[in-house]
Parts: sequence; C-alpha cells; structure tokens
Amino acid sequence: RERKRKEGVNLLELSASFFRERLKMPEAGAARGYLARRGLSPEVQQAFGIGYAPDDWEALKRHLGERGVSEAVQVEYGLLVHREESGRTYDRFRDRVMFPIRDIKGRTIAFGGRVLGDAKPKYLNSPETPVFHKGRELYGLFEARQAESRLERLVIVEGYMDVVALAQFGIRNAVATLGTSTSEEHLSRLFRLVGEVVFCFDGDRAGRQAATRALETVLPLMIDGRQARFLFLPEGEDPDTLVRREGPEAFNDRITCASPLSEFLFDQAAAGRDLARVEDRERYASQVLAALGRLPEGVLKSLMLSELSRRTGVDQSSFENLMARNAPSPV
Ligand code: UTP
Ligand code: MN
Ligand code: MN
Ligand code: MN
Ligand code: MN
Repeated sequence: RERKRKEGVNLLELSASFFRERLKMPEAGAARGYLARRGLSPEVQQAFGIGYAPDDWEALKRHLGERGVSEAVQVEYGLLVHREESGRTYDRFRDRVMFPIRDIKGRTIAFGGRVLGDAKPKYLNSPETPVFHKGRELYGLFEARQAESRLERLVIVEGYMDVVALAQFGIRNAVATLGTSTSEEHLSRLFRLVGEVVFCFDGDRAGRQAATRALETVLPLMIDGRQARFLFLPEGEDPDTLVRREGPEAFNDRITCASPLSEFLFDQAAAGRDLARVEDRERYASQVLAALGRLPEGVLKSLMLSELSRRTGVDQSSFENLMARNAPSPV
C-alpha cells in the first residue's frame, strides 16, 4: 500500500514538472499572457509550481507512458480519463493553467486547472484518488509554511487565485479549501499549526453562506484560547480583486480588523430582527443559545453567556438552566 502511494506521488511529480516545462514552450504563449494579465510574477509562479497543460488529448499520456507509467495508474491518479463506452483514454487537463496541490511535505497530490477564457468548468480539479481527499487538503498550506516557519495565523480563502494573488502582494499565509466547504478536519489541521484562523470568503451570497457554515463548523473546536475571526469583503470582491485594488497594507488592515467569532455570532443572530421587540429578542436568544450549545465548556462560553444576558436583560442562570435542559442527556 505504501509502495503504491509512492508510485502515485512519483507520477504526480512527473506530471507537475511536465506542466511546468510546457509553460515555457512557444505553445504556451497565451497561458503566459494570461498569468501576466493576472499579475503573477515568474517568482510567484515558481513558488507555487504553476504550469500549463497543453491543448492536446494525449500529451501527458505519452509523456508518462514513455516513462513506464501504466495507463491504469494514470487513471487511478486522475490524470487520464477513461471512457467506458469507447474504452479510450485521454488527458483530463487540456489547455489549462495548472496549479499543483501539495501536501504538507510539499509532495504533489493533485491538480487544479483553470481555463484561459470563460469556458466551463472554470476550474477542473483532480478527482478523489488514493492520495487526494478534498475535504482534508488545503491549497497553499505547504507554501505558507515554506514562506514563514513560525506561522501564527492563517487566512482561509475560497480560491487558488486568491492564495496566489495574496502571496504576490507579500501576504503569504493564505490557504484555500478546494471547491468544498470548510470541514472540521480542515480546521483541526490548521489549529494544530496556528492559534488563529481568519475566514475570508468572497463578497457575495455564496461567500456569506460559507461564513455561516464555517461558524457552525468551528464552534466545537474553540478550546485552548484559539481564535477564529471573520473578514467580510465588499460586495463583488474576492481577496484577489481586492488586494490588487487596495494593496497589501489595506488588506492587512482588514485582516487585523476582522470580526471575532463572538461578534459575528451576535451580529448574525441579530440580523433582520428588531431587538426592541420581545419576540425578536426571544428568537435572538434562542439562536445564540443554540450556537453556545456547540461551544466547548470554557471561559469563552461563560463570557458569551454573560454577554447574552447583558444584551437581553435575562438573568444568566435562566439561560444556564435552559441550556442544561436542552443539552443532549449524558449516557
Ligand atoms: P470562484 O468562482 O470564486 O473562482 O471559485 P476564483 O477562485 O475567484 O477564480 P478566478 O479569480 O475567476 O480565477 C472559488 C473556488 O471554487 C472552486 C475552485 O477551487 C475555485 O478556486 N471552483 C470554482 C471549482 O472547483 N470549479 C469551478 O468551476 C469553479
Ligand atoms: Mn481513500
Ligand atoms: Mn464567489
Ligand atoms: Mn472568487
Ligand atoms: Mn477570483
């Protein structure tokens, strides 16, 4: 099993260097132009190992085949697509800018490929393979650790381009989930490395929904003084567009001013409610209590409970009784 994993990683490494080499060829002029238009310097492209998959159905397949990699293994690791009907195989990634996804040790485990134009899908990702599990991996984590060995904080963004654009502006501590929502596993991995995470999703409805889900996911992990904060971008912006428009100082200020979890939680519960009304206050309190029910016992929970009591004018012990009654009964 371990041998198989090594085989896979070698094949992925071979593919990553193939894509990097191809980016230097005359045929990749449009891809280089695309990367230049997106403001990515050769240094940043190199730090992230960015490459180009040529516009060819079998370029990688031939390259790997010549190096003794069987088609079956290429299919297993997501580089080759196998069509059941015709029995034919062809390169999954064609005419795309290629982002290698690396594990914490820097080994390439998968790829994301972006089209140069507006074709769909915009990004094509490796499927789940023996070495790639989307719900676990974070794009840019290896590179962030390379740039700064004593990381204190990581910024979680949505996209490959967000990570790379921030790095281009000297903000080298961003990571992205890979087209999935932030999982508990993602967050526990990050909290093993840093004490603070800042969620920074796109300034659109999907991004705000992602923040709400991230809040739910992070609550049970709030122990040992860990910090989670939430940064909301102006409508229509993502970290890539905003750092280009405002520059890194302004973006760093936004990171510094991001809402702490407690503030986001209270704001979220208050949204759309008129807290002068008793009924609205009741729903507000219920929503906050439900969230507090997911928080581990500790100082943060106690403080938030007393804050809720201050904000609603309800005695804290009443809330405690309610929480005890609603808590899942101990077995
Ligand atoms: P976005 O649509 O916000 O793209 O998707 P982006 O990162 O801003 O891309 P650019 O700036 O147009 O290049 C955010 C992330 O969602 C996943 C990718 O991981 C992407 O970075 N995604 C998006 C896909 O996997 N496939 C898609 O077709 C689109
Ligand atoms: Mn598996
Ligand atoms: Mn978006
Ligand atoms: Mn985006
Ligand atoms: Mn973008």
